[in-house]
Amino acid sequence: MNLHVLIEIIVLWCTLSACIDMTHGINSEYETDQVHVSYTLEVVKGGVANIPCNISLHTSRDKVQTVVWYKGDIIRRQTSIYTFDARDKSLENGDHWSDAILGGRGSFRYQDEPPKLVLANVKESDAGIYICRVDYSKSPSQHYKVNLTVIIPPEKLIILDEKGAQINHYVIGPYNEGDLINVTCVAIGGRPQPNVTWWKENTLLDNIIEYHSKRRVKNTLHLHRLQRKDLHTVLTCQATNNNMAIPISSSVTLDMNLRPLWAKLWGKQRVLSAGKPYELSCEVVGSRPRPVITWWLGGVQMASTRELTGGSNNSTTSFLTYMPSIEDHRKQISCKGAHPFISDCEVEDGWILNIYHVPLNNLTLDSNIDEDDIREGTEVHFVCDIKANPWITTIGWHLNGEPIYNNPSSGVIVTNQSLILRNVNRIRSGNYTCVGSNLEGIGESNIVQLDVKYAPVCRPGQTKIHRVAIYNLAEIPCELEANPTNVQFTWKFKYNDGNTVKLPDHFITSEGTNSTVHYTPSSEDDFPALICSGRNEVGEIDDPCVFHLLPINSPEAPANCKVTKQTESSLHVECIDEFNRGIRGEFIMEVYDAQTGKLVRNVTSRDPTFTVRGLESGIGFDVDLYVANKDGKSLVTRLPTFTLSYEKLSDDSGALLSITTLLYILAGVVSALILVAATIVGVIRCRGDSESCDDTDFNGFEGSSGRYMPMGSDKFNRQTDSNTSYDSFDTESPDVIT
Ligand SMILES: *[C@@H]1O[C@H](CO)[C@@H](O)[C@H](O)[C@H]1NC(C)=O
Ligand SMILES: *[C@@H]1O[C@H](CO)[C@@H](O)[C@H](O)[C@H]1NC(C)=O
Ligand SMILES: *[C@@H]1O[C@H](CO)[C@@H](O)[C@H](O)[C@H]1NC(C)=O
Ligand SMILES: *[C@@H]1O[C@H](CO)[C@@H](O)[C@H](O)[C@H]1NC(C)=O
Ligand SMILES: *[C@@H]1O[C@H](CO)[C@@H](O)[C@H](O)[C@H]1NC(C)=O
Ligand SMILES: *[C@@H]1O[C@H](CO)[C@@H](O)[C@H](O)[C@H]1NC(C)=O
Ligand SMILES: *[C@@H]1O[C@H](CO)[C@@H](O)[C@H](O)[C@H]1NC(C)=O
Ligand SMILES: *[C@@H]1O[C@H](CO)[C@@H](O)[C@H](O)[C@H]1NC(C)=O
Ligand SMILES: *[C@@H]1O[C@H](CO)[C@@H](O)[C@H](O)[C@H]1NC(C)=O
Ligand SMILES: *[C@@H]1O[C@H](CO)[C@@H](O)[C@H](O)[C@H]1NC(C)=O
Ligand SMILES: *[C@@H]1O[C@H](CO)[C@@H](O)[C@H](O)[C@H]1NC(C)=O
Repeated sequence: MNLHVLIEIIVLWCTLSACIDMTHGINSEYETDQVHVSYTLEVVKGGVANIPCNISLHTSRDKVQTVVWYKGDIIRRQTSIYTFDARDKSLENGDHWSDAILGGRGSFRYQDEPPKLVLANVKESDAGIYICRVDYSKSPSQHYKVNLTVIIPPEKLIILDEKGAQINHYVIGPYNEGDLINVTCVAIGGRPQPNVTWWKENTLLDNIIEYHSKRRVKNTLHLHRLQRKDLHTVLTCQATNNNMAIPISSSVTLDMNLRPLWAKLWGKQRVLSAGKPYELSCEVVGSRPRPVITWWLGGVQMASTRELTGGSNNSTTSFLTYMPSIEDHRKQISCKGAHPFISDCEVEDGWILNIYHVPLNNLTLDSNIDEDDIREGTEVHFVCDIKANPWITTIGWHLNGEPIYNNPSSGVIVTNQSLILRNVNRIRSGNYTCVGSNLEGIGESNIVQLDVKYAPVCRPGQTKIHRVAIYNLAEIPCELEANPTNVQFTWKFKYNDGNTVKLPDHFITSEGTNSTVHYTPSSEDDFPALICSGRNEVGEIDDPCVFHLLPINSPEAPANCKVTKQTESSLHVECIDEFNRGIRGEFIMEVYDAQTGKLVRNVTSRDPTFTVRGLESGIGFDVDLYVANKDGKSLVTRLPTFTLSYEKLSDDSGALLSITTLLYILAGVVSALILVAATIVGVIRCRGDSESCDDTDFNGFEGSSGRYMPMGSDKFNRQTDSNTSYDSFDTESPDVIT
């Protein structure tokens, strides 16, 4: 307790003495003394204070004895902090004494001009009034006063963004173009309060200071309408309260979001081929950070494949692997570059696609036709609807893969994009396609099957002769061709006497276009011909199939028979019959009048060579040839022929005929010329005297061309009667020749 009281007393005493000091001041103490110019010295804390003692140490008549330094109020009590004692000594040997308060940091440098007390590592507490008193041997003492101010530099700087958040990583932002920014620099500490300034490189931006609190000074920098060029600008804040120490500073770099400037879709206006892959590239420039690049086709987003950022970060390229389809034709393809954060700054580039493709053909039948009921004789129109880019260079038509050509005479008419088949028949059934070609290739249409319905017809190439032994079952198949194929068969027996009998159903098995008769001949005469007919919904067979049932060993019909010679009254017939050569049987030739059907001759021969004489001239005959032996008769080979007429030349050979034909033509031409000449002459004559215009010229001509008189004269006279001229003669002449 006693100690405590003691300390209180001491503190009180100190306070009182301070009050005395305040009221009376140093001046009162040294009023009478000669105090030299007082001097203010500023020293940065931690630096070296050279406190001058600007008095002349060496005068010609005197010598310095002691130099004593006092500090502040301590001086009033004559307390020195440093003494230099050179009494009875040279200055070099003077004694230095320093108070503990200086902690060994001070030393007097008498040899400097002016001499000074050097105080190292200045502390805040070193601030104050320093007085040096110089005592001379003779002269009065001198005093020199220095007001030492210790400057405390600002401790640190804090940079705050507009939200008041501290920027720690030297980057501020990112800001958008056009933004207005407020960035604040706060200097902490420092006495006197520091000057805080904003700099951009060497340019002072802002020196308007706000005193925030005793220990804080701030400066808010306002930047208006940031531009692209402001990116990476380094803003430096400096704070200083003296010009002795290097100012402290802190910098921030401006980070910015930049809008994309433009997009470029490379390879614009290219023509693309459908179905082929392409890689398109789109470059977007100017965006920071990296733009979001999207691809669009006709308003629908597509997936891009990869992205590549250019070296400068300024350019980003996106790649799209794209396989165009025909549907994409005329659609817009584009790429858009968007900023990831800033909206409404999209850049876009694109073009309208032009997509080439192989022709697509849609073949249809004319809609007026019932596709399922096309009968022979109708007219069919095919229409080929072509979609092609570029337009087709050629179009063709195929039936079952084979090309069809325009052939109006046979009813095939090929026009631009349609095919007309007039009067179709079953041969025209099949698969139709149309084929178009362009730069991209050849396109074939869908198949349209033309299914021509027709009444049954006998299938060619069937076995027409069936041999069977008596009492044995004969199976006679009949194959028809028909569309549709559900055919109703009718079979008939045809006997040699010409009678026909319809077969009862139990002899017949039928399926579709095939039918078979099962029949057992029961006598030697029971080998009739079989007539197979059928009908379907289109109609009845026109020309039924005829099959012949023959005894098993009956001879073949004579083959390769020909009328080798014919005259006005005779015929010579020969067969080159390999089958029946050397058979035991005979060849029979029956000659019928073709007109009346009456038997004219019945000739039998061992060899297939016949001659008949004494026939009527100039009429037609049917010559029936067959073979007969013990096993039966063969089928009949019928040769229609005729005997020559007496009126005609006996045209034995074709060659002669053609020569005479030529002669006729020649004669005709000559006649025509003569006729023309005669007509002209006649016309000239007729101008004088119409009475003398008679037909004598024509009659004269008639006489000179006597070889064809038998047929020509009649007509010729008739025509000359009608007084026609050259024209009618000319048209008639071919009749004469033939
Ligand atoms: C010191 O005094 C001398 C002459 O008395 C004068 O020339 C000089 O400028 C003074 N220096 C200071 C720092 O006052
Ligand atoms: C010393 O200087 C400081 C600042 O310049 C001033 O505030 C102070 O009053 C001065 N002291 C004397 C005793 O003149
Ligand atoms: C920036 O400072 C100005 C002036 O003090 C003020 O009007 C503006 O609102 C501030 N802007 C921001 C983003 O803080
Ligand atoms: C701060 O420093 C600047 C630049 O040196 C100067 O222009 C300005 O006057 C100073 N302001 C104060 C208050 O010292
Ligand atoms: C490019 O961007 C990357 C990250 O986005 C960044 O690290 C790099 O410094 C940038 N380069 C340039 C030249 O801007
Ligand atoms: C980015 O590209 C634009 C346009 O080409 C150009 O004006 C700008 O200087 C470029 N910036 C950089 C950082 O390369
Ligand atoms: C072909 O044309 C017909 C009629 O115009 C139409 O109904 C059909 O859908 C088309 N087919 C194709 C594959 O385009
Ligand atoms: C065929 O096409 C040409 C050119 O497109 C056209 O001028 C002509 O009339 C067409 N002919 C027919 C028969 O359609
Ligand atoms: C026609 O096409 C059909 C299929 O559409 C096929 O079954 C048929 O065999 C084809 N006919 C010919 C003759 O090519
Ligand atoms: C008709 O007969 C022929 C020959 O025997 C055969 O190839 C064909 O398949 C038959 N047709 C039907 C529909 O039975
Ligand atoms: C022709 O003669 C043969 C053999 O003498 C005979 O079998 C046949 O019936 C005769 N033809 C006619 C139609 O009389």
